[in-house]
Amino acid sequence: MDAYRAIITKRDTRHFLPDPIPPDVLTRILQAGRMAGSSKNSQPVRMVVVQDPERRAALAACGDYAEHLKAAPLAIAVVLLPGGGPFDAGRAAQNLMVAAWASGITSCPIAMHRQECAREVLGIPPDHTIATVLAMGYPDLKHPLSQGRQRLPLDELVSWERWGAHRPEGG
Ligand SMILES: Cc1cc2nc3c(=O)[nH]c(=O)nc-3n(C[C@H](O)[C@H](O)[C@H](O)COP(=O)(O)O)c2cc1C
Repeated sequence: MDAYRAIITKRDTRHFLPDPIPPDVLTRILQAGRMAGSSKNSQPVRMVVVQDPERRAALAACGDYAEHLKAAPLAIAVVLLPGGGPFDAGRAAQNLMVAAWASGITSCPIAMHRQECAREVLGIPPDHTIATVLAMGYPDLKHPLSQGRQRLPLDELVSWERWGAHRPEGG
């Protein structure tokens, strides 16, 4: 799968097979997270890999829409050090998810609405933020990958030269 195809076909998926992700594939995915750029190369993002089923279940209780963490064989918590920017965390998280998808592994970013709960489960210091927890695994294709959520048309998302201006002829 080329990079463009991996990016545009990646959907946030909530049904997984129990099959484990092989260690070498997991290392490639983590490398992709590592290589994300960050403001002034401050590298404020850390990752916690969670495979233990009980720990995943405990994490699921820390988010409002996190039940699928129980079925995913793997979770990666994307953690920001104090002062780290959310954009840096987003870049790392998207790298992890797109690299995973290029290897046929689907994922879903999950918000930890109760940060203290998630920090406790993972032993993360109180001044660190859990930007997201990514549920990951091979897709259970009995369920559609996509929930059918549409994106806004490009014309509505993109302005040209000035806010709200349309694309010029031939531009
Ligand atoms: C910041 C953020 C937080 C999200 N939190 C959750 C979540 O807690 N639980 C969940 O199931 N999906 C979560 N999602 C996934 C979104 O629901 C998903 O990106 C959106 O519906 C588009 O899905 P699609 O790419 O499959 O169309 C989150 C996405 C983002 C960007």
